[in-house]
Amino acid sequence: MDSILVQGGTPLSGSIPIAGAKNACLALMPATLLSDGPLTLSNAPRLSDIATMTALLRSLGAEVTALSEGRVLAMSSHDVTNLTADYDIVRKMRASILVLGPLLARYGRAVVSLPGGCAIGARPVDLHVAAMEALGATTELRDGYLHASAPGGLRGAVVDFPLVSVGATENALMAACLARGTSVLRNAAREPEIVDLARCLRAMGARIEGEGTSEIVVEGVTALHGATHVVVPDRIELGTYMLAPAIAGGSIECLGGRRELLAAFCDKLEEAGLELEETPTGLRVSRGEGRLAPLDVITEPFPGFPTDLQAQMMAALCTAQGVSVLEERIFENRFMHAPELMRMGARIDVQGGTATVTGVERLRGAPVMATDLRASVSLILAGLAAEGETVLSRVYHLDRGYERLEAKLSACGARIERVRA
Ligand code: EPZ
Repeated sequence: MDSILVQGGTPLSGSIPIAGAKNACLALMPATLLSDGPLTLSNAPRLSDIATMTALLRSLGAEVTALSEGRVLAMSSHDVTNLTADYDIVRKMRASILVLGPLLARYGRAVVSLPGGCAIGARPVDLHVAAMEALGATTELRDGYLHASAPGGLRGAVVDFPLVSVGATENALMAACLARGTSVLRNAAREPEIVDLARCLRAMGARIEGEGTSEIVVEGVTALHGATHVVVPDRIELGTYMLAPAIAGGSIECLGGRRELLAAFCDKLEEAGLELEETPTGLRVSRGEGRLAPLDVITEPFPGFPTDLQAQMMAALCTAQGVSVLEERIFENRFMHAPELMRMGARIDVQGGTATVTGVERLRGAPVMATDLRASVSLILAGLAAEGETVLSRVYHLDRGYERLEAKLSACGARIERVRA
């Protein structure tokens, strides 16, 4: 298995291009199932999760062709023959559940394996199921598979989410596009990925209002048509690279970055003492002399501080001047990076969903590993400023969400390389 080797201590300088958003693309791709016409996505990221979604869609009978070295995905679902999302694919990637709404809406039936447990939390799919039921589907769990059907088609309804869920909002939004009548999604997620999905669906002929607010209204139509759509920049990749100079020192311009994708996060970086500048081509982050100021961070649904940047922020706060407190409110087990950071000399005390980080002057490199994507990248970031060598194993987690990570960071002067097994 590959590993990544980082030699810490070099300040960074240069620019990093931000790719299209993984989590937007994973919702946009299943939207092809809603229509006979071709759906083309450009600015797609080249990641193993996108390959997994490609495999899932192909297993259903959809055509997915990667053009321009994978930057463009040309999809068509005129010949869907299989309505079952198999366990072998779903267990690799939970976002597979996003085929449920489109299949049910267009074909009146879907069978989707339940994803099972996850390293960062239990992550049930009850809200997805409840949303489909509210839209008129009947569901049954058999042999680990969710069998959903709506033989006469889905009908518009009020879907009131008891808690904010990105994925359940996406599933309900896609399903409601082809439901008969009006649907109102209340307490909907407001993430930029939801806005991006709504824009794409609208380009396909859907009638949607209110995306980006907590109430989305969808007027069902009888059919959607083909469209082309540009995937929104990946705000989590953006935030991750903004933290690189925060940790290692120096200055980086994140090309394509936009502050409104990450306002709460950007505010925190400034509070910690970093300088942010919106440029004509992106967002520049610079760190001056001295250590970062400590922060209190609480993860929340958008527009709050994103849970997907909590691990990376913790890595930065390990060397802040003082005591920081990070509260994780989205997932119940998302501090697995803490013990690994402690192996690098960090002082962290985790009590339930709260981590207290007492900044130390310097981290020291160590062999480390992590069990999820964002935890893995937080260890790379920590390694950029640590004394000596950090070796990260289980690199396949990183490849799910960061394309050419070593190339992007080494172009800015970081000493980082992949060691192929
Ligand atoms: C999306 O996951 C992202 N994944 C996650 O990104 C991200 O961490 C998460 O949203 C929160 O922002 C994709 O978009 C593919 P949720 P999702 O439903 O949709 C609970 C990454 O690193 N819940 O908003 O699965 C759930 O357990 C990842 O890129 C239920 O209880 O997240 C969690 O506590 C990891 N029942 C909370 O809601 C449900 O049916 C929010 O989860 C659904 C969710």
